[in-house]
Amino acid sequence: MKIGNLTLKNNVFLAPMAGITDLVFRTLARGYGCALCFTEMVSSNGLTRRTQRSYRYLESSVDDRPLGVQIFGADPDVIADAAHIVADMGADLIDINMGCPVKKVLKTGAGAALLKDPLRVGAVLRKVRASVDVPLTIKIRSGWERHGINAADIAAIAEDYGVDAVILHPRTVEQGFSGFADWELISMVKKRLTIPVIGSGDIRSAKDALRMLHVTGCDGIMVGRGALGNPWIFREIINSLASESMPLPVTIKEREEMMRRHLNMTIRDSGEDLGVKKFRKHLLWYTKGLKGGAQFRQSVVSVREKEFLLSAVHAYFSSLEEHDDMVI
Ligand SMILES: Cc1cc2nc3c(=O)[nH]c(=O)nc-3n(C[C@H](O)[C@H](O)[C@H](O)COP(=O)(O)O)c2cc1C
Repeated sequence: MKIGNLTLKNNVFLAPMAGITDLVFRTLARGYGCALCFTEMVSSNGLTRRTQRSYRYLESSVDDRPLGVQIFGADPDVIADAAHIVADMGADLIDINMGCPVKKVLKTGAGAALLKDPLRVGAVLRKVRASVDVPLTIKIRSGWERHGINAADIAAIAEDYGVDAVILHPRTVEQGFSGFADWELISMVKKRLTIPVIGSGDIRSAKDALRMLHVTGCDGIMVGRGALGNPWIFREIINSLASESMPLPVTIKEREEMMRRHLNMTIRDSGEDLGVKKFRKHLLWYTKGLKGGAQFRQSVVSVREKEFLLSAVHAYFSSLEEHDDMVI
């Protein structure tokens, strides 16, 4: 698949997720074949004012390629300057966030607030397109509310201004993350555009991924929450796209090994204190649905040392193996 002049090894991507898709998480997803990863959204104001926090979101490595950097903002000049900065730093693709429903972001006119202002969308894209040559995408929602679905119009504006692909998460801002993503809208947008359309929303298995591609005709898919505690999902999807036999279900041993690796990588990046803290949410996802998982999580809630946490994880997973009935 191609986005602008960027050739990708497949059409299965990791969705940007604030607080989650850092370098460690992206590295794990890539290890299972994910072709394109995105940073979480980075403030264009933060980038142009050179605040340290914004630059931390851009931390990457030689293996973390190709990398899409997602920026958000409201002012066309500031977004264009930020795009220039991240392109200079080596971003392989720039995505502009036009879908974030968080109040703090909407209040500034950024994220999904742009969907209400098509003229501004045009102004942003004109400035950004003039400022960078790297492939450019936008990530949008359906619209503001059920009676204001305008994703297809926004996508058409994007195509007119030289955007190279549109990523659509077909829920309205009003909807937040409730209900279902309206895949039908992905088909509609796909029919309207000639540039690639990437679908995002409710892919939790290889079956879902195949179904989205089949039902909507979209060019690529993006996995978000389905990858939490489950980086193997990329291998499953890619194998089933290639019509290969499905890999065997992930074993308890593999799961424990992955947790150990994930924790070690996080600590290498952030130090023991912060690393253990950051890993907590992943620990929840890795053990969700496992027998005694809630009890186990409760027992490690205040653990701060890596070795202690790893031995608790080992003891818990060994008990699961003994009983050989890992899933509720
Ligand atoms: C915790 C969380 C953080 C997210 N952060 C971002 C973000 O920074 N930028 C963005 O465009 N979308 C963000 N999203 C939306 C996802 O990229 C994706 O479009 C959405 O979750 C639907 O896909 P899914 O059902 O596969 O999760 C976030 C979603 C979640 C759950």
